[in-house]
Amino acid sequence: MGITRRKSVDTVVHQNELPPADIDGEGRLHQDLRARDLVGFGIGIVIGTGIFTLTGLQAKENAGPAVMVSFLIAGGVSLLAALCYAELAAAVPTAGSSYTYAYTTIGEVFAWIIAWDLVLEFALGAAVVARGWSGYLAGVFDLPDRWFAEEGSTVNVGAIAIVLVLGWVAMRGIRESKWVTNGLVIVKVSVCLFVIAVGVFHIDPDNLVPFVPPAEPSSGDATGTLQSPLWQFLSGVEPTHFGIAGVVVAAAVVFFAYSGFEAVANLGEETRHPARDMPLGLLGTIGICSVLYVGVCLVVTGMVDYRELSESDAVAQVFRDVGLEWAGVLIGIAAVAGLTSVILVDIVAMGRIGFALARDGLIPPRIGAVHPTWGTPFVMTAITVGFVAVLAGLVPIAVLAEMVSIGTLFAFVVVAIAVVVLRRTRPDMSRPFRTPLVPLVPILAVVCCVGLMASLAVETWLRFLVWLLLGFAVYFGYGYRHAQLARRADADASTQS
Ligand code: ALA
Repeated sequence: MGITRRKSVDTVVHQNELPPADIDGEGRLHQDLRARDLVGFGIGIVIGTGIFTLTGLQAKENAGPAVMVSFLIAGGVSLLAALCYAELAAAVPTAGSSYTYAYTTIGEVFAWIIAWDLVLEFALGAAVVARGWSGYLAGVFDLPDRWFAEEGSTVNVGAIAIVLVLGWVAMRGIRESKWVTNGLVIVKVSVCLFVIAVGVFHIDPDNLVPFVPPAEPSSGDATGTLQSPLWQFLSGVEPTHFGIAGVVVAAAVVFFAYSGFEAVANLGEETRHPARDMPLGLLGTIGICSVLYVGVCLVVTGMVDYRELSESDAVAQVFRDVGLEWAGVLIGIAAVAGLTSVILVDIVAMGRIGFALARDGLIPPRIGAVHPTWGTPFVMTAITVGFVAVLAGLVPIAVLAEMVSIGTLFAFVVVAIAVVVLRRTRPDMSRPFRTPLVPLVPILAVVCCVGLMASLAVETWLRFLVWLLLGFAVYFGYGYRHAQLARRADADASTQS
């Protein structure tokens, strides 16, 4: 028992996983999803600020035109992680998240760390996308950079405003209809295809040379050291920008662009033939996104010299720069629409995590309380929205994206290890989907995720460690003693004595 106590799978299946506003009809979803539904759903969640904003930023700061290679590397690592995630997701028959899988398999403290990490991922993810949203809005309406864009921004009021509005929408339990969600998937895919199809005729091959800009020493002051990748810092190698190392650094940052595919793995229970459809769904989502991402990167870095790219709305800017104003406006409007739904999904997800944690006694019940008429975990949503609004208003997008990447990569390391451990300790567990080539695929996933994490900045590691320590403080200060499982164990002990 203690910190590794586990919930039984039966308990989980009989518990409501989601707050009332999120439950469909009879509280359970039908098993009717096919691979193509999974791909549609996945693309809807995955395509967001990663491609629209980080492309320009990372090409300019770390990878040059080779940012497309960074996207390919990140896609490959995502696929390895996804194949591990899907086994765990399908094995615990509930529409929950990795938090629930961990709680039933590896124990409470791991489940808590994953949940704590997920809050970081969704909160910071929402902040990143909100800043991306704001940058594109500024491009469409020619709004002042100071309040809306990355360059020279003081307080990003556009990002704060969209977070507060969507926070209110989420608290009221208003969800996008399926129709709107599907429509936005089409908008996002169409805009990427449009960028590739029109942009390809405006590529100037000179812009793609040098493909990998030569490594340059980073500034040697204290800030420069903190910003250097962890492995360079630990190995004493002189900190550099660009070069091959820069391409890997950019891969770690743009890993953000693939985050969200784990939501596909969570649909194992509602999938008709998980063993066949789940890998196809994951492969399809990551494969299609990779192709679109690489195409968009090629066009963006081919149309304008990477040194001249906008840090806020590069995908629209390159069209404006070659005289296609109308295309820039069209792309801007589509990006603003597409990004809005990504922010909403992140905010709703944080409320759900709060609901699950409070139900299990790991945070005070008042925080996860469900509103009597709205049917949503409104307190948790309000708290997290406040946190997101402050971050979105004040912290640069690159800093936030690195934090999301490190958090996501860390969760995948835990999940990949869990797959191998559980194959040994729980060989009898039902596994509708099995990760191929175990232990090779999980080991590769761990090595690649850790490799990308080591390419992130020292300051990102420090911030992440502080977040984890804070998480342990909350767990040992509150959750460990108040957990439902602890109370049940106490009650059992007193009945027996
Ligand atoms: N993958 C999502 C994005 O790029 C979160 O915005």
